[in-house]
Amino acid sequence: MASDNTKNGEFVVTPWSVEGDVDYDKLVERFGTSKITSELLQRFERLTGEVHLFLRRKIFYSHRDLDWILSRYEAGEKFFLYTGRGPSGGVHLGHLIPWIFTKYLQDKFGAELYFQMTDDEKYYSSDKLSLEATQQLAYDNTLDLIALGFDPKKTFVFTDMGYTKTLYSIAAKVAKHTTFSTAKAVFGFENSTNIGMVFFPAFQAAPCFLPSVLKGHNIPCLIPAAIDQDPYWRGIAREVAPKLGFYKPAQIHSKFIPGLGQGGKMSASQPETAIFTTDPPKTVEKKILSSFTGGRATVEEQRKLGGQPDICPVYHYYYFMFEENEKNLLNIYDECKSGKLLCGECKGMLAPRVRKYIEEHQARREETKGKIDDFIVEDIGGRLTKRSERKQ
Ligand code: TYM
Repeated sequence: MASDNTKNGEFVVTPWSVEGDVDYDKLVERFGTSKITSELLQRFERLTGEVHLFLRRKIFYSHRDLDWILSRYEAGEKFFLYTGRGPSGGVHLGHLIPWIFTKYLQDKFGAELYFQMTDDEKYYSSDKLSLEATQQLAYDNTLDLIALGFDPKKTFVFTDMGYTKTLYSIAAKVAKHTTFSTAKAVFGFENSTNIGMVFFPAFQAAPCFLPSVLKGHNIPCLIPAAIDQDPYWRGIAREVAPKLGFYKPAQIHSKFIPGLGQGGKMSASQPETAIFTTDPPKTVEKKILSSFTGGRATVEEQRKLGGQPDICPVYHYYYFMFEENEKNLLNIYDECKSGKLLCGECKGMLAPRVRKYIEEHQARREETKGKIDDFIVEDIGGRLTKRSERKQ
C-alpha cells in the first residue's frame, strides 16, 4: 500500500513497512511531530530521578504532547500507557524496545498499561495466517511482554477478538467520525485492500479512550511505540478525540533497531536478519557472527580506512541495548573508525552479550506461563476483570 509519507520518494515508513535509510529528522517534519528537547529530558529527570538510556541516547526521540502530559502529571492527574503488538510471528528485539521503555514508564509514573494484541489486523494483512493462528500467536507474544516484569495489578492485555464487545462500541464511534478519504490518505488504501483493513484503524484507535470510557472520566493517554505507528494517532485517534469529548492521546516515538542485513529495520518478515526471543542461544550467536557490518574487503583496507559504525547493525546493537557505559561505547565507535577494532572481534564481543540477554529472557518467559491469566482481560460485562479472577 502506498501512503502519504512516500511523496518525497526516498524512504518509506508505514505501519506495515519500513524501507530505505530512514532520515529521522525528516520524518519528524513529514509526520509533524516534535523532537524531545533537553528541557523535556530535564523534566523527565526531575520527575523520575533518572533519564532512561533510550532517552539519553535519543532512541526515543520524538513526541506529540509529551510536555502536556507531564504538566497534567505534575498537576496531580495520572496518565495511562497504551501500546500493542500485531501478532504475526515471534517477538524480536525490535518489539522489545518500546516494551522495555513502557515498563520503565510504568515503574516511574505508577501508570496503568493497556496492551492491545491485534489478532484481527494480522489476519487481515497476511495471506498466510488464519485467525486461529494469530490468536495463538497473541498468547505466545504475551509471554514475551510479561517476561519483562510488568505489574499484573496495573497491566491489562487484551486481544481484539477476545475483547470485541468492550472495544467495538468505542471503535464504532471512531469509525463514524473518520472518512474513507482520510483513511486512504493516511494509510494508502487501494481498491484491492480488504475492508477489514479499512475498518481496522478504528480498532487500533479505540484503546486510546478505553480507560476513560470504563472509568467514566477523561484520563490522559501516553503511547510509547516506534514511529511507524504514528499514522494511527496523527490521522485517526487525535482527529476524532475532540469530536468524541476525549483528550488527544500523547505519543513518544522511538527509532528502529536495524536488522542484521544492510539497511532496514529489524522485521519479522525477514527472519534471517532478526533476533527472535525464542531463537536457540546458539542461533543467536551465529546470526550475530554472520551479520553485515560495513567493514572493508580486506584487513589491510580496514586498518587503513577504518570501519563504518554509522551503517553497522553490530554497532547499533551496542548503542541500543548492549553497551550501557558511554565511555565504552565511544571506545567501540572510535576504535572501529580508526581501524583498530576489526569486525570479527567486534561481533565476537557482542555475540555472547546478546546470547546472555536472550537466555535470561527465555528463562523469565518460561516462568510467566503460569501467570498469563493475571494479565489478560476478556469481555465480562465490559469490566477490567482478569481471566484469573473469573476462574475463582
Ligand atoms: P508491531 O507488532 O508491528 O510492532 C510492535 C511494536 O514494536 C515496534 N517495532 C520496533 N521498534 C523498534 N525497532 C524495530 N525494529 C521495531 N519493529 C517494530 C512497533 O512500533 C510497535 O510499537 N498495529 C501494531 C500493534 C498495535 C500497537 C498499538 C502498537 C496495536 N495497538 C499501540 C503500538 C501502540 C503492530 O502491528 O505492531
